[in-house]
Amino acid sequence: MGLSMTERGNALPQHVAIIMDGNGRWAKAQGLSRVEGHRKGAGRVRDVIEWAADAGIKQVSLYAFSTENWKRPKLEITALMTLMATLLPLEIERMNERGARLLTLGDTSKLPWIARKALDKTCKATESNSSIDVILCLNYGGQQEILEGVKRFCASYTDDVSKAEALKHLNEDTFRSLLGRDHILPVDLLIRTGGERRISNFHLWDAAYAELYFTGRLWPEYNQSDFHAALDDYAGRERRFGRTSEQLKGEVADE
Ligand code: FPP
Repeated sequence: MGLSMTERGNALPQHVAIIMDGNGRWAKAQGLSRVEGHRKGAGRVRDVIEWAADAGIKQVSLYAFSTENWKRPKLEITALMTLMATLLPLEIERMNERGARLLTLGDTSKLPWIARKALDKTCKATESNSSIDVILCLNYGGQQEILEGVKRFCASYTDDVSKAEALKHLNEDTFRSLLGRDHILPVDLLIRTGGERRISNFHLWDAAYAELYFTGRLWPEYNQSDFHAALDDYAGRERRFGRTSEQLKGEVADE
């Protein structure tokens, strides 16, 4: 199915970020409640971890609940949290078999206690796994993350002279270290399902050079061929990071 791991070679993304959109529309089309859509979507979370691990991907991050999702109906929020609290611990055995480590991104302290408890349990039980990181993004927002970084920077200096000195040395790398995502690789490939074409506040800092891939497939129906199509598409992209194509091919010198 698609290119094999060796055929993709260096063009395999290390970090794939996924905006799992379309649960509600899928449910509506089936005459089901939105919550049933999320339940079905949770099954695809389990699948995509397997597909990514099989493909040799090192990190997969999943946008499970954004800072803006608090605006949803209370019932839906509670159902989503309950779903996570119930399903996550059930995945521990499978994650350990696959060498998958669960990490979180976002302010999880604001989540309901049952969700925090399940997350803690699953993160601890999988912490020594090293084949693939599964980064569950919860109460996560890219703008908020950047703002927190700015606040951390300001809070670490008590006087204007040292702050001015630190400002001189502030660059993309030093600022990134303020974001608390040192253990997270820059996003190589960002996939969004469900047909919309936007980033929706996901991974803003680290999506700077991400390759974007949009598919109309609704998340509950996302399948392995869809995932491989995204990887194949990525393998055919030229990542220039601001350089020219000729520079990358070594046809002209950098100087
Ligand atoms: C967006 O679809 C989806 C979400 C906001 C929630 C994603 C959550 C899951 C897939 C379940 C996570 C479960 C575990 C165990 C991690 P939408 O509801 O906005 O869909 P719509 O655009 O069709 O309305």
